[in-house]
Amino acid sequence: MINLNKAKVAVIGSGLIGRAWAIVFARAGVEVKIFDQSKEALNECLSLIKALLEDKEKFGLLSEEVSEILARIYPVETLEEACAGVVLVQENIKETVEAKLEIFAKLDRLTPEDAILASSTSWLPTSLFTEKLKGRSRCMVAHPTNPPYLIPLVEVSPAPWTSQQAVDRAMAFYAAIKQEPVLVKKEIHGFLLNRVQGAVLNEMLNLYEEGYASSADLDKVMKYGLGLRWSFMGPFETIDLNAPAGVTDYAARYGQTYADVSKTQKDNSWDASVIKRIEDERRKVLDQEKINERSRWRDNRLMALMKHQQDQPK
Ligand SMILES: NC(=O)c1ccc[n+]([C@@H]2O[C@H](COP(=O)([O-])OP(=O)(O)OC[C@H]3O[C@@H](n4cnc5c(N)ncnc54)[C@H](O)[C@@H]3O)[C@@H](O)[C@H]2O)c1
Repeated sequence: MINLNKAKVAVIGSGLIGRAWAIVFARAGVEVKIFDQSKEALNECLSLIKALLEDKEKFGLLSEEVSEILARIYPVETLEEACAGVVLVQENIKETVEAKLEIFAKLDRLTPEDAILASSTSWLPTSLFTEKLKGRSRCMVAHPTNPPYLIPLVEVSPAPWTSQQAVDRAMAFYAAIKQEPVLVKKEIHGFLLNRVQGAVLNEMLNLYEEGYASSADLDKVMKYGLGLRWSFMGPFETIDLNAPAGVTDYAARYGQTYADVSKTQKDNSWDASVIKRIEDERRKVLDQEKINERSRWRDNRLMALMKHQQDQPK
């Protein structure tokens, strides 16, 4: 059993994702040391985190006062201070192999030997930046979905040399802080979520490019169709329920058709002229200056959806 009230973690990088992780850890009762190499980023992080927490409070998504959660987050000015006595480090610095190699070498030296070292990287496999480390058996990717304080999925993706014990401890820790960890059993580019998202975008781009539908109608396929079910159950559970006797029955009825259709599906090069046409269609419904405003609207919708899901019986 993990005692979260006694646990201490380090959040390295106080940008978009680092700030969001700080909320996730602190709202679970964990003490957070947050470090950024930019003094400016570090100085402004608490006020930015406070504004995010206040938004969550408005939607009834906090079980404590904003000030109580904020009081567990300590910006610190050195990496040494951030790493002292931690059980886990969540690294959120820039997305290059060189930067990850450098920071992981430092983290390996500065943290207690049994601390988990986890990277939020969106695309880089653990083995690209941990191979030479003494403590490589405790390193892994723990890729969040933006923003992790609203979307709970964490993809835990170890390297071949990561120990089972470290993976088990990380999975248990993320579950204890109320995220939903999934295990990527073998390293693969893009982990799981971005590969699935890529497959959907690939098909949408092909359907658009070949003139089957407008970008707005293709978005509606998700918004008014698939997305409604997929917000609370996955595609495998969906097909299990879409034939009277389950998955095998579904495959017997429709499997061959899907297999035939898959032969007509192909890759897509994200051609600039096609992207430009989609951009033009999007700008007719949303001015570029209004993208930030619309992003806030999206986050509020997400919070309302989270509140609804939180209130459902398990
Ligand atoms: N933005 C997303 O949607 C998203 C989603 C999931 C994962 N990620 C991953 O999270 C990581 C961070 O992304 P972000 O969007 O928060 O970037 P960001 O640019 O908002 O923040 C990065 C921060 O790291 C700091 N930094 C850079 N090098 C550093 C170093 N050596 N030591 C300490 N601080 C350092 C920068 O000053 C900056 O404040 C990336 O690996 C990214 O792939 C991003």
